Amino acid sequence: MPRSLSGRSFLKLLDFSTEEIQYLLELAKDFKRMKRAGTPHKYLAGKNIVLLFEKTSTRTRCSFEVAGNDLGMGVTYLDPGSSQMGKKESLEDTAKVLGRMFDGIEYRGFDQQIVEDLAKHAGVPVWNGLTTDFHPTQMLADVLTIEEHFGHYKGLTMVFMGDARNNVANSLMVVSAKLGINFVACGPKDNMPEKKLVDTCKKIAKENGCTITLTEDVKKGTKNADVIYTDIWVSMGEPDEIWEKRIKLLSPYQVNDAVMKNANPGAIFLHCLPSFHDLETTIGVDIHKKFGLPEMEVTDKVFRSPQSKVFDEAENRMHTIKAVMYATLK
Ligand code: CP
Ligand code: NVA
Repeated sequence: MPRSLSGRSFLKLLDFSTEEIQYLLELAKDFKRMKRAGTPHKYLAGKNIVLLFEKTSTRTRCSFEVAGNDLGMGVTYLDPGSSQMGKKESLEDTAKVLGRMFDGIEYRGFDQQIVEDLAKHAGVPVWNGLTTDFHPTQMLADVLTIEEHFGHYKGLTMVFMGDARNNVANSLMVVSAKLGINFVACGPKDNMPEKKLVDTCKKIAKENGCTITLTEDVKKGTKNADVIYTDIWVSMGEPDEIWEKRIKLLSPYQVNDAVMKNANPGAIFLHCLPSFHDLETTIGVDIHKKFGLPEMEVTDKVFRSPQSKVFDEAENRMHTIKAVMYATLK
């Protein structure tokens, strides 16, 4: 049992020990059982939280809102256009004001430094709901989904395909190193995670008996994989002009039948979502018109296959975010 997480911020997984991450996963399982059984758990009644979003969201916002309500808290949402932060009021002043009114602050936006600075000045726990560098709450849901499927996670191999230096890939590499999961970043060399982070993760991985591998080779990279993971090729905040370059670079790393067949027979597919796997989105249609692709980072067939656990994963965002809020606010 780790020391209490009460009063801590949740900014990146590098800040947390293996035991602390395991504790959050255990808590999430308890909350999931309670939710399923209809057992009320308004343990944080009387508290209030604010959700500060500078980028759009479906899962993360809804998870914080539902989890906050389930825990009995008041929840205020500030959308990308409706706070003064950065425009009329400094980050420091905003953090101090919000910290006077709320018991916890969620931030989704740009530089990791922003969420770190918010935490420095707010005086209350701050939770990272995605920055350009990391997406730490996502990983708790991913590992919970893996554990639910395989019964364990230690010793498994997870392969991230595509833009392996984005926030999701970075955080997956960290959580894998911390929890003893072998991690493979499979993508073009220009899209590999930064050397400094790789070196840090390799050191942590060694302590936990697992490996970190970077490869451009899809066949080698996906061999022996238990989990194949991908994300969109252009992340929020990146310019539209980059699509053409990314499509060229990342198309060889699409998750398709060949990739899933090359992985272990019982392998599962994960994706943080949202995903461009068909032509049911405006961006998907636009890309199809410009470049002729009917699907992008994952084929519709794999996305809808029994191996795909993406909706379990999406649900688990809520249970794991609830665990993070409870652990840090109780
Ligand atoms: N996976 C994820 O963070 O989804 P949203 O962008 O919808 O929050
Ligand atoms: N890499 C994606 C993740 C979305 C949940 C992005 O930052 O847009």
